[in-house]
Amino acid sequence: MEVLKDLELLVLSRYSIIAVETYEEERIEEILRRIAAKLGIPLFMWTVTRGLERVGAGNPIYDSQHPLKALGNLAAIPDEGIYLFKDLHRYLGEADVVRRLQDLARPFAKDRRALVLAAPQITLPPELEKITAFFRLDLPTEHELKILAKNVVKNLSQSHKIKVALSSDEFDRLVEGMKGLTLFEAERALTKAVIEDLALTLKDLDSILETKRALLEKDGVLEYFPAEEGMGEIGGLENLKRWLAKRKKAFTPEAKRFGIPAPKGIILLGVQGCGKSMAAKAIAREWGLPLLTMEPGRLYDKYVGESDKNLEKALTQAERMAPCVLMIDEIEKGFAYGGSSEADAGLSKRIFGRLLGWLQERKTSVFVVATCNQIEALPPELIRKGRFDEIFFIDLPRQDERKEIFRAHLRKRKREPAAFDLDGLAHASEGFSGAEIEQAVVSALYTAFAHGADLDTPLVLDEIKATRPLSVTRQEEVAALRAWASGRAVPA
Ligand SMILES: Nc1ncnc2c1ncn2[C@@H]1O[C@H](COP(=O)(O)OP(=O)(O)OP(=O)(O)O)[C@@H](O)[C@H]1O
Ligand SMILES: [Mg+2]
Repeated sequence: MEVLKDLELLVLSRYSIIAVETYEEERIEEILRRIAAKLGIPLFMWTVTRGLERVGAGNPIYDSQHPLKALGNLAAIPDEGIYLFKDLHRYLGEADVVRRLQDLARPFAKDRRALVLAAPQITLPPELEKITAFFRLDLPTEHELKILAKNVVKNLSQSHKIKVALSSDEFDRLVEGMKGLTLFEAERALTKAVIEDLALTLKDLDSILETKRALLEKDGVLEYFPAEEGMGEIGGLENLKRWLAKRKKAFTPEAKRFGIPAPKGIILLGVQGCGKSMAAKAIAREWGLPLLTMEPGRLYDKYVGESDKNLEKALTQAERMAPCVLMIDEIEKGFAYGGSSEADAGLSKRIFGRLLGWLQERKTSVFVVATCNQIEALPPELIRKGRFDEIFFIDLPRQDERKEIFRAHLRKRKREPAAFDLDGLAHASEGFSGAEIEQAVVSALYTAFAHGADLDTPLVLDEIKATRPLSVTRQEEVAALRAWASGRAVPA
């Protein structure tokens, strides 16, 4: 591996600090472990929670959590070694830390000693620039993953009889499925998938996607849905569908070459149950991209600083998975000002600010779909041009749209829509949301089953008559939303 050789050279070079920009903490650790073993020198690791410790030795050095103390220890240990400092990038703005690092430069330049900083992003003060070598450890490219996959099969074949049954197209799909994983994660996932049935087939893709999902969900901030094929059945929303169809190829390399900027995202505003979440999922499916969903409420943590970290993690993960669709569901709930206390308000303000910044600057192809059903709660900065491409308002479905929705849900339950009076049903369900229409169909299905009959128009009509839709029970809210949307949002 090139990376290993390059980093080894840097350890031996006159640079005393090596700044590695990477999302893959584990991978850099493993690489340094190998280099240290090869050179026959120890590897030390420092984190702000555990302090400085020799890897494999058991206990950290007493009282070395504080960065200055840890660096003081380094000055006192004259031995050769690689010192991986994991959280130090957060202290590079402090004068005493910078001074300590400058003082270490001379002894470190001479020996086989190196201080390694590792973090997704490292900003150095000018004093340290000359003594630091920068190194970027990117996530593996498709090409690297391809090589990895071939190697995994080759290595496993030495000890097992592995059956390979994949076309070259299928092999590419498998490799694409590994994108976003680090090399180590990809290797582990693929090995596990192949070992299970001693074969490399397209079935392994499911297993890999499953691993990927589990890894992403381990942190509990995002949910992952792999890319599926085919557009789901959505009744109506013709404007939105057209908008999306036009941008379908916008994430491809061809589009980039053509000079098309990747679309940023949309806000879907609408009454409850009108299909906002459903539309977000359909977008991912239509574009063949994986979907990540974030519930802002889940970012909040009772510990100070954890909420910020959760957001950071979520954004990082989304960027890792790019191109992808990121749905921020009910964005108003997580980022609206006015928590129950001053502290809450401050926190949500900060988190919100960070999210705004990210929406503005992000360079990777993450298409954001933010859903919202309470526009007053949203701060105006969010809606400003530049952060989203468009705001769509999903109103209650019209007569023809309701017909479509009935058709979709009848078909979904394996009923022939032509056998129903769709016009009559659509007419009777004026003011119903898509969710309420679905509910009427499902309830009628239960009734029919209980009576030993099949589903028919009168049964569905009965359910419709028994329902008081939200548009009636919460008339004012719906009216306010419509009033706001008119002129500001595009009808979906
Ligand atoms: N236009 C539609 N066509 C077909 N089905 C629909 C439509 N709108 C809503 N539905 C049905 O209603 C269900 C609920 O919709 P969805 O969860 O997407 O609504 P929502 O707008 O996200 O609501 P909420 O504001 O409560 O999150 C969907 O799973 C779908 O079955
Ligand atoms: Mg929803």
